[in-house]
Amino acid sequence: MTTYESPQSLPEAAIVVLYGATGDLASRMVLPAIDEVRRRGLMPAHWRLVGCSTGRLDDDAFRDRVAAALEGSEQGTPDDVDEVLGRVRYAGGGFSAEDPGDLPGVLNEVREDLAGETDAEPLVLHFLAVPPGAFAPIARGLGAHGLAEGARVVFEKPYGTSLESFVELDGAVKEVLDEEQIFRIDHFLGKEGVQTIYVMRFANQLFGSEWSRASVEQVQIDVPEDLDVANRIGFYEATGAALDMIVTHLFQVAGQVAMEPPRSLREPAAIHQAREDALRSFRPLEPAEDVVLGQFEGYRDIEGVAPDSEQDTYVAVRLWVDSERWRGVPFLLRTGKRMAAKAQRITLVLGPPYGPLDPELDTPNSIQIDFSGSGEVRLGITVKTPGPDLTYSSGTAVLDLDDVPGGEPISPYASLIHDVLLGDRSLFTTAEALQGAFTAFAPLQGDARPAPLPYVPGSWGPEEARRLPAPHEWFLGQ
Ligand code: BG6
Repeated sequence: MTTYESPQSLPEAAIVVLYGATGDLASRMVLPAIDEVRRRGLMPAHWRLVGCSTGRLDDDAFRDRVAAALEGSEQGTPDDVDEVLGRVRYAGGGFSAEDPGDLPGVLNEVREDLAGETDAEPLVLHFLAVPPGAFAPIARGLGAHGLAEGARVVFEKPYGTSLESFVELDGAVKEVLDEEQIFRIDHFLGKEGVQTIYVMRFANQLFGSEWSRASVEQVQIDVPEDLDVANRIGFYEATGAALDMIVTHLFQVAGQVAMEPPRSLREPAAIHQAREDALRSFRPLEPAEDVVLGQFEGYRDIEGVAPDSEQDTYVAVRLWVDSERWRGVPFLLRTGKRMAAKAQRITLVLGPPYGPLDPELDTPNSIQIDFSGSGEVRLGITVKTPGPDLTYSSGTAVLDLDDVPGGEPISPYASLIHDVLLGDRSLFTTAEALQGAFTAFAPLQGDARPAPLPYVPGSWGPEEARRLPAPHEWFLGQ
């Protein structure tokens, strides 16, 4: 196993301030991820967590919530839960420029407490697990109350809902913070399967040499979900599949696939820059040609949905990347709710080889990366069908990343929180990259947006989307 040391190192001490600490995201994702980082021995030696929210709880009541969140997580309650809870404080009363609530006072106490353990100045990490409308007010609050300097600030998604709102939000945030302090989370970039793309590509001649239009006919990034939306209908009615998943997740994964070789894999900033350049080369979508929206039948019957709702629960997109490497190669992106299966798969569909077998092969070779769970690399290859006759079959060779020697997969959130502590921004989106993504997405938010077509729940979505990958098919299902 070769380890490339990140140029950054963990601070000696850190205080994590978790905004939205009593919310769903904090208990489902952030608190378990912080504990995962700790269990892996990746937290700074001296750390504290301050939960911040509007409610007035005492420390113990919040500790009970943290304990419940850990109990309900995949890893369950750690044996040393009391040690964890001993590091937890709570600051109520909300936080804004006008009224900082209890946070400044609690932070002072926490700093004093830490000073008894170490001389090191703690890194302060503000984690905004709050609805997007609260991003700018909290950022302004950090400026107004002297909490921005030297701090790192994590923003959840969505960071903007359109090009205009992104520009406005980023402008407000930049009045207080420098770009280097800002960590915009996209947990898809933290997935093991997505992180492995560039290692696989740049460390293997087998893949590196094929990674361009010379061999690849199309790229599919397919994320069907069988999930319903009824339990988050307020969010969904306001957002829809395209806005929920394309700019934030699938465009970012497409950027990871499309990037040019970075100067070095040892320099996070170089990887960062390469992905940013890729996103900026996405051509703005042409909705009439390249986009199919869908809405599953029965969506309008869900309580909270307008009877004439035109919200999309499914989206399929043909994206063009204006770079020499990818000229003429479509990137097909698809996702939706209540579809036939749950999967997360990148497929590079390779063109036919030259030679005597060419006309007889009907299943193209493919390089596939499954980025759900711990991830899988799959190769779709043609071999002789075992037996007396010379006939051909397609098979798939699978490498489960879980089986890689020395591997201990880490969950996306934990991986990203660890990166924030290190100050490694390579897996976070930059302002320029998001600007590129929103610019490519903008036509879908204008008058040209197509009406969503109905599809049967449990299906692969509207038939109309079958034309997008032609002459190939959607690899996961039609
Ligand atoms: C979220 C979206 O960001 O990602 C959800 O809002 C989606 O709609 C989810 O289901 C998928 O995440 P995961 O962790 O299942 O890959």
